[in-house]
Amino acid sequence: MRTHLVAGNWKMHTHPKEGLALVQEILSGLGKAESEVWVFPPATHLSLLAEPLAQSPVKLGAQNAASAAQGAYTGELSVSMLKACGAQGLLIGHSERRQLFGETGKVLNQKLERCLEEDLTPFLCVGETLEERESGNHMEVVRHQIEEATEGFDGEALQTLVIAYEPVWAIGTGQTASPFQAQEMHAFIRRVWAKKFGESAAEKIRILYGGSVKPENAAELFGQTDIDGGLIGGASLKAADFLQIVQANPHYDL
Ligand code: PGA
Repeated sequence: MRTHLVAGNWKMHTHPKEGLALVQEILSGLGKAESEVWVFPPATHLSLLAEPLAQSPVKLGAQNAASAAQGAYTGELSVSMLKACGAQGLLIGHSERRQLFGETGKVLNQKLERCLEEDLTPFLCVGETLEERESGNHMEVVRHQIEEATEGFDGEALQTLVIAYEPVWAIGTGQTASPFQAQEMHAFIRRVWAKKFGESAAEKIRILYGGSVKPENAAELFGQTDIDGGLIGGASLKAADFLQIVQANPHYDL
């Protein structure tokens, strides 16, 4: 069975001390988490949060990294630097990176390579815009994003990879994909994975849903067959909301 996973993407919110208070609140309310829980704070917080989180079940990730391993790239942070500060995973290809910073499939492919070289868990984010959905192209768009990002890798190298399906029109808008729309895309992603990497890899890969997940809608989304958890933006900044979403694990009582 796939372990249910809930991750908080803090984006460019909180100062380091506020981030520390937020993880302390999360840790004190977490209890016996039946899910795998991750937080993705700004990179400036990693070193500070690594210590309290090291003794906890909550894992720490970075939101972005350079596509190069090192060199003259003013302002960039390499995967190995982020790892040295405590990151265990990396978000790759969040739609804000694709749209606002022009990240292409080729660059994301390089970031994935850096991430695997350093043994970090990659969280590959994919998702269509509203226009792409309305034109009926959404499945092909997502298939293409997966193929571009994973080109040249085999299933074995990608064993730890997690996919986050985040329809762009649902991110930060309050508009969530319906459980039916989300399940349909997740099942499609699993079929794409099966075709590329085989049935057994597709059975194992975790596919998260992201886009306006809240305590009120989490249980219904997470109850879908191919939804293995969520990538949470806005609602991950309030410990109480995030914890309620973590607890909306459909396998909790099994
Ligand atoms: P949201 O963001 O939950 O605020 O919609 C999700 C994300 O961008 O990862």
